[in-house]
Amino acid sequence: MEKLENTLKQGKEEVFPSVLLVGCGKMGASLMQGWQKEKYFSCVVVDRHKPLVPESYQLRESYQCVCSVSDIPQEFVPDVIVLAIKPQKAEEVLVALGERYAHQNLTLLSVMAGRTIAFLEKTWCTRSNNCPPIIRAMPNTPSVLGAGVCGLYASPKATAEKKQYCDTLMRAVGKTVWVDEEHLIDAVTGVSGSGPAYVFLLAEWIEKAGQEQGLPLSVARLLAREVIYGAGKMLHELPTEASELRQNVTSPGGTTAAALSVLMGAEAFPKIVPEAVAAAVHRAGELAG
Ligand SMILES: NC(=O)c1ccc[n+]([C@@H]2O[C@H](COP(=O)([O-])OP(=O)(O)OC[C@H]3O[C@@H](n4cnc5c(N)ncnc54)[C@H](OP(=O)(O)O)[C@@H]3O)[C@@H](O)[C@H]2O)c1
Repeated sequence: MEKLENTLKQGKEEVFPSVLLVGCGKMGASLMQGWQKEKYFSCVVVDRHKPLVPESYQLRESYQCVCSVSDIPQEFVPDVIVLAIKPQKAEEVLVALGERYAHQNLTLLSVMAGRTIAFLEKTWCTRSNNCPPIIRAMPNTPSVLGAGVCGLYASPKATAEKKQYCDTLMRAVGKTVWVDEEHLIDAVTGVSGSGPAYVFLLAEWIEKAGQEQGLPLSVARLLAREVIYGAGKMLHELPTEASELRQNVTSPGGTTAAALSVLMGAEAFPKIVPEAVAAAVHRAGELAG
């Protein structure tokens, strides 16, 4: 497998690290598909199942897929191990990785919700005394289209170089933002890790409501999707505040004002959106272990 020295991009200073991706389900596969456009880079993927990618999807030659940690080629020592399995399944894998990579100079990048650096260090060290620097990241599934956003937090042991590796990996699939307290990763989870689901739910309900108003499913679906895409594009590309963009669509006494009086009622968005985000943050805390 290519080593880090060989992954230097010609003509650029940035180094794309070699990766061991553990877990290639919904999140891991989104990251992997985003990374595929990077040329000079090797990746071993560990998953019990085939990577969760479309049938037509061609994996690069520099990717190798295996079913368990024990199947990872002996000679492969990654720069970064990306842990993308469910938090509840972390323990066994971490112990095996800790034993195998006890004396290697690598970085552990966990995208698992909840699991703290203290937990990851303790579990990694079950059969070894040497834990690598750990960085926690909370990406989201739009990473598959390079439109993700990822919050990161580094343990004090992580050097600037290690942080740079992880930032490079996550920036290949979207934007990155660093927080300086670990507990804030739970807040990132509630806002942007889980966030795409809130927007998909909105799309589902706009589509249903359109059908209830007599539109055929195909028309209601197109309208719901395009309105979210168009509004998202405006938010992404214009510097205007969201509230101002909203007001620009809202004439006093008009149709949008009628709809917003429902959505902005005391029991509606102002209550349920903070409650939903708080529920996600609370659940992340419960998974801490
Ligand atoms: N999904 C999201 O939108 C999202 C967003 C941000 C962060 N995350 C984080 O990403 C992590 C993964 O979430 P996900 O939704 O991608 O989960 P997922 O779809 O269940 O993917 C995890 C994959 O890893 C496999 N796996 C688990 N333990 C394994 C082992 N010991 N050896 C080999 N393969 C193993 C699983 O197989 P089995 O199903 O057979 O166990 C599954 O295929 C979670 O910790 C979550 O908090 C997810």
